[in-house]
Amino acid sequence: MADRFLIVSDVDGTMLGDDAALEALLKWLAPHRSSVRLVYNSGRSTTSLRGSIANSPLPEPDALIGNVGTQIETFDPPTSLDGWPKLTGPWDPNVVRQVLDEVGGLELQPDGYQSRHKVSYYAHGASESQLASWQTRLEAAGQQVTVIYSSDRDLDVLPAGIDKGAATAFLANAWNVPLDRVIVCGDTGNDLSMFEQGFLGVVVGNALPELTALDSPRVFQAGEHFAAGVEEGLRHWFQRIENRQLARRAEAL
Ligand code: GLC
Repeated sequence: MADRFLIVSDVDGTMLGDDAALEALLKWLAPHRSSVRLVYNSGRSTTSLRGSIANSPLPEPDALIGNVGTQIETFDPPTSLDGWPKLTGPWDPNVVRQVLDEVGGLELQPDGYQSRHKVSYYAHGASESQLASWQTRLEAAGQQVTVIYSSDRDLDVLPAGIDKGAATAFLANAWNVPLDRVIVCGDTGNDLSMFEQGFLGVVVGNALPELTALDSPRVFQAGEHFAAGVEEGLRHWFQRIENRQLARRAEAL
């Protein structure tokens, strides 16, 4: 594996969930680490992610994407990536709050989960048509937003064009990693955008229907859960790429 890979993984329910499986993944990954850049991409803030890295077997990554794609920072030193988030339209978190506070059945998530570029609620069992109607209300109030719904519960409102997938694409471009050298891993709806960018994907075995429904030659549905599913998927893609490289070399003989 001489070429550089960018592995971008969700954290809760994907890397985390089974510490023994995570230890096994790290052991397998160790000899590849010099040719891999590792990034965590989470709905949580980068500060919260740093806490988990300090207090769990999670290895230190090269960068962190936090708050559902709205933050990108290198791990050490902790520096935000220039030019991100790239706002393309009107966005005012106070207006978003005003509009959604009036909607019945939505419960604002705790203060620590809100940020300048992310407004989050709990919306238990929301339907497609409810999600669409909230987006329409926000647009009527002059806001251009991305609405992301995960786990039949979490509603994240972000500036238009920003999500975990867009942040991954921005980072891959900044680091000059081509699409087919990016492997993304996830388990719930806020990861969906990562699978829509043309990267190689791994859906872990414990994933929710929002991801197990994906049916694409670029998406590997693992049977194993949590980090064991990540390892199964990475082995799959590494093997595929190695075979392709061997075939190319054979052709050149
Ligand atoms: C994390 C965040 C929460 C968000 C959820 C889904 O749990 O803390 O704010 O709604 O991810 O993206």
